[in-house]
Amino acid sequence: MRQSSLVVVANRLPIDDNAAPDGASEWRRSPGGLAGALHAILQKEPATWVGWGGGVGTARELPDIGSLRLREISLSEPELHGYYEGFANSTLWPLYHDAVTTPVFDRGWWETYRAVNRRFAEAAAEVAEPGAAIWVQDYHLQLVPRILRDLRPDVLIGFFLHVPFPPPELFMQLPRRTELLDGMLGADLVGFQRPQAAHNVAQLAAKLLGAHGEDDAIKLDGRTVRTGAFPVSIDVAEMRVLSARPYVVNQAKQLRHDLGAHKKVLVSVDRLDYTKGIEHRLTAYSELLRDGLVKVRDAVLVQVTVPSREHMESYQGLRERIEREVGRINGEYGRVGEPAIHYLNQPFGRADLTALYQAADVMVVTPLRDGMNLVAKEFVAARRDDTGALVLSEFAGAADELTDAFLVNPHDVDGLKDTLLRAMSADPADLAAQMAAMRKYLTRHDILAWARAYLSALDRTGQLAQRVPRRSARRR
Ligand code: G6P
Repeated sequence: MRQSSLVVVANRLPIDDNAAPDGASEWRRSPGGLAGALHAILQKEPATWVGWGGGVGTARELPDIGSLRLREISLSEPELHGYYEGFANSTLWPLYHDAVTTPVFDRGWWETYRAVNRRFAEAAAEVAEPGAAIWVQDYHLQLVPRILRDLRPDVLIGFFLHVPFPPPELFMQLPRRTELLDGMLGADLVGFQRPQAAHNVAQLAAKLLGAHGEDDAIKLDGRTVRTGAFPVSIDVAEMRVLSARPYVVNQAKQLRHDLGAHKKVLVSVDRLDYTKGIEHRLTAYSELLRDGLVKVRDAVLVQVTVPSREHMESYQGLRERIEREVGRINGEYGRVGEPAIHYLNQPFGRADLTALYQAADVMVVTPLRDGMNLVAKEFVAARRDDTGALVLSEFAGAADELTDAFLVNPHDVDGLKDTLLRAMSADPADLAAQMAAMRKYLTRHDILAWARAYLSALDRTGQLAQRVPRRSARRR
């Protein structure tokens, strides 16, 4: 068994679901995807990624991707249902996103979630060399840190939650709240996107576990669990290279031409998920058309939804509602050859996505709740000059950092309409100042800065952080 000094444990492996195990595996990239976030930091020294391959059945032996080793965790059909679709995505996901859809509490799912978390932990324990660091990702694997601490007291354990951590009154609804909190606090360092999450966890640790909880450290069982905010980011340098590629630049020009060179082009890109506020956005846009404040001959909305969790009923229902609403809006307001909304429900390649970001006048990112939202950051980084406007929900983690965006409460449809209009008619000089500030911020706070901040907090000797490449030394 090959062992590594750094092990990442995440629900998904960073490979295409369809990649053949013949050395042709590609990094899996999707908007908002976790794999993309870690891409840049795992190529320097051998590391192992433990994760699920996306299907059911026996685990495959997968070839390395460069210096990254892959260890696949298999799931059976009942496990897929109880762990992934059930406890992770029908209980925790909606609860952690302000219960915008009602969380389902099913007692059977818990046992499966616990058993699958144990399998992930055992695999990680096997591939970690003595004194290694194991970095556990996201809400699917919240029990893994505690299990690992029992299995391998010699390793450093990090946990990072990519989604929001809810306010105590919501978390308290969880039937297995104490075990879940204790599971996560098995780590040496628990990282979140926003500072409020660390505050919520400190309060809960005091209440449920009798711990002494501060916002940056929780004393529990005679040890200290450090906590803090480490807002995740994107590979800005990679996005800049991509955005200068002739294919992307030409494609952006073509899109502008096809959409109508004189029109205001609004663009939204989301995983098709009820947390993304797609229905609220459609309502706002449709009312602007109804009120005559936006005219189809002057503006167009391009709504890309990337298919997600398609076997789950709540996602199928959402898709049907969105498609019905887009059809209604186009039926009522469209003209021949001139729809009000272009709706694309399909996976998008990185280059085409970047072209779309460049073609936009206004990027509309209005989730009802979002851990970070990397699409907002990608839009800013993909622009080649200081044009463009970003409308951003204040309920996305990105709103803490991209404070020069047009911030909006997406629940307030009138406010959303107003903000869309303001963004569409903003003075180019004001937009240039806003975009320049956001672009500058992102250059400093890219994915490398995130990884370096987290890993140096996890391992205070500074050794782990040395794995993160320096910006200037990177290949362009
Ligand atoms: C969110 C989660 C990630 C997850 C992604 C895609 O961004 O935080 O952990 O990988 O959604 O969802 P999926 O269910 O397809 O993995």
